Amino acid sequence: MTDQISLRKDRIFLMGFMGSGKSTIGPILANTIGYDFLDIDRAIETRTKKSVTEIFREDGEQYFRSVERDIISQIIAHPRLVVSLGGGTVTDPELFRVIASSGILVYLKVTPEQLYRRLHRKTDRPLLADIEGNRLGEPELRDRIQTLYTSREPIYSKADIVVMTDDTRVGITVDQIVKLLSRHLR
Ligand code: S3P
Repeated sequence: MTDQISLRKDRIFLMGFMGSGKSTIGPILANTIGYDFLDIDRAIETRTKKSVTEIFREDGEQYFRSVERDIISQIIAHPRLVVSLGGGTVTDPELFRVIASSGILVYLKVTPEQLYRRLHRKTDRPLLADIEGNRLGEPELRDRIQTLYTSREPIYSKADIVVMTDDTRVGITVDQIVKLLSRHLR
């Protein structure tokens, strides 16, 4: 752990596309700067006692988003906290506003090509599956990633800090974020 840092906003939110590394980088960053850590998807799973895939299948995306909003509202004042958001958390403009006003937004940026490479074997992302929950074929998956990427990139790009993470080792990315956070010290 580095020396304790004191930031102008007391929370750090990691955002970015599915597969951008939010859940991997979040706990390491939190440990490095001595903050608590929360992964939104895991918190939703703990609360509902279901996997993300089961929630989408059995209760639908709207219900998933309502639990997501509820958890954000509960943790939004937690001091010294790193949060790994879900890829879609910030697509609700009101939720984006709440998150942006209470924390520093860090966008882990990855190209669609790299996302395809990271995601094409995964089965735990309902938004990247067909309606029966089966994995998409290569052209369909590339298309789906590109469509979501195009609609979300403008939102992610509003982040306070943007780091490219395509071929970067996790430790290097964490170091980059910690350095860039120094611009946000109190
Ligand atoms: C989603 C991303 C997922 C999860 C859910 C919806 C999205 O989280 O919240 O499957 O809308 O992009 P990760 O970004 O952690 O994969």
